[in-house]
Amino acid sequence: MKEVDVLVIGSGIAGLSYALKVADRQPDKKILVAAKAGVLDTNTSFAQGGIAAVLDLATDSYQKHIEDTMEAGAWLCDPAVVELVVKEAPDRITDLVAWGVSFDLNAGGDFHLCKEGGHSENRILHVKDQTGVSLEKALSQQLKQRTNIEVLTHHFAIDLIIDEAKDGGTTCRGALLLNVKAQELVRVTARVTLLATGGAGQVYHATTNPVIATGDGVAMASRAGAAIEHMEFVQFHPTALFNPGHKPSFLVSEAVRGYGGILRNSAGRAFMEDYDPRGSLACRDVVARAIEAEMKKEAAHSMFLDVTHLDPDAFQAHFPTITQRCKSLGIDPATDLVPVVPAAHYFCGGVKVDTQARTSIENLYACGECASTGLHGANRLASNSLLEALVFAHRACEDTCGKLTNIDLVDVVPAWFAIPVRPPENPAQLDWLREEVQTLMSSNAGIFRSRKELFELRGRLKQLADEVEMMVGLSPLSLQLCELDNLLTVALLVVEAAINRKESIGLHYLAPDLESTPQPAALAEVEPT
Ligand code: SIN
Repeated sequence: MKEVDVLVIGSGIAGLSYALKVADRQPDKKILVAAKAGVLDTNTSFAQGGIAAVLDLATDSYQKHIEDTMEAGAWLCDPAVVELVVKEAPDRITDLVAWGVSFDLNAGGDFHLCKEGGHSENRILHVKDQTGVSLEKALSQQLKQRTNIEVLTHHFAIDLIIDEAKDGGTTCRGALLLNVKAQELVRVTARVTLLATGGAGQVYHATTNPVIATGDGVAMASRAGAAIEHMEFVQFHPTALFNPGHKPSFLVSEAVRGYGGILRNSAGRAFMEDYDPRGSLACRDVVARAIEAEMKKEAAHSMFLDVTHLDPDAFQAHFPTITQRCKSLGIDPATDLVPVVPAAHYFCGGVKVDTQARTSIENLYACGECASTGLHGANRLASNSLLEALVFAHRACEDTCGKLTNIDLVDVVPAWFAIPVRPPENPAQLDWLREEVQTLMSSNAGIFRSRKELFELRGRLKQLADEVEMMVGLSPLSLQLCELDNLLTVALLVVEAAINRKESIGLHYLAPDLESTPQPAALAEVEPT
């Protein structure tokens, strides 16, 4: 058993920035960061594009960033949250610079600001096409300089430790971790716990997210009874590199389109203007749907991103990672069209939090992709997510520091603690089940949905969830089994939310041509009461 003041689950930008801030504000407190794999193995490290922030009030305005965010989110965003995030952005950028992040500068020595889909101005700070990994490296260097932060790598959070009061209220008392290398359980008692577990792209067959992105935070919070919202809004990045069999899908940053890249079909025609006057720089939901629709029309495996009209040396200098990856596959962006397909990228919903990142469970905070703050509404504006993570980590820190000394450490032994830990005896069976979930979700809860398919999908997912629940009850605990359980929990949350959202909005799109079969009576038959 370990006792700490603050437990941080996850080592992406949300977890690390919160840990650093609390450590500096409360040097006498012990902070523990639990990373599922290595510290840098996070969704943040995969972020290429950058961070949106209004820094030049002569050419841009907070109001424009607010409107762009609201419009991208189909006006389902919380306006107060959008305003606070946009207005606090400059201070959070100052924090990053103080922690040693070197954003790219222009010839005049100011930040080099890019454009991405849905933004009316150039306002994306970046470090070439390696923004996320640059942030992670800077923050993890800072971590090493704090003596009151301990980091446990390869420690997977199995479940939150919850204290249920007689009045029905719930309080988080820490979490049960699995030391994956030693195959041992570690019970961590904490005054305050932050969920910063990132995304859940692995719920889908093709995703830009790393293999660890299995929605653990949302699943744990859901099991603990926390409020979860907006899970139907799963963002598909329009331009993952088409490279069948390679997982995860390699991202071709939206910044490439901001830089002048144009989407074309196999006949070479720029098709985006057929769908939106903003062309290749329309919002992500629009572009992903357009690509998928064109692929269906042509029965094609991909569409194409064209940068052949751009200066090749300047392109390579700006996008070294993308250029190198393309070249490694025999695609030279200077002369060849780059094949691209949409892939699951970002969950706009998650654990519902207030403006201090507090969940509905006492002493449990959530930040970053696993949280639903109200910023993204029905569709996230590009490069708003790293910003959101920083703003809410800062706010969570303010709230934590205000109350930490008044919270007792209470040791609660969770039921899981009695279960033996062992690698699975039949890992292939778990892999097949995981693949089945991913394939079902991609086929029936992807970019185009129908209510009939959603109902059928829910039925099959429930069967699988029952099967896995039995396995959880009978087998020793393992990382693979827990991940599968979490994936199914998240998949069901997505499908349930999608069923409850009866009309198309933002990322939740009910395709009319898929709707021809379901009749109300038929739906009632499939829908369990
Ligand atoms: C990208 O570089 O296209 C991804 C950035 C984001 O998801 O906001």
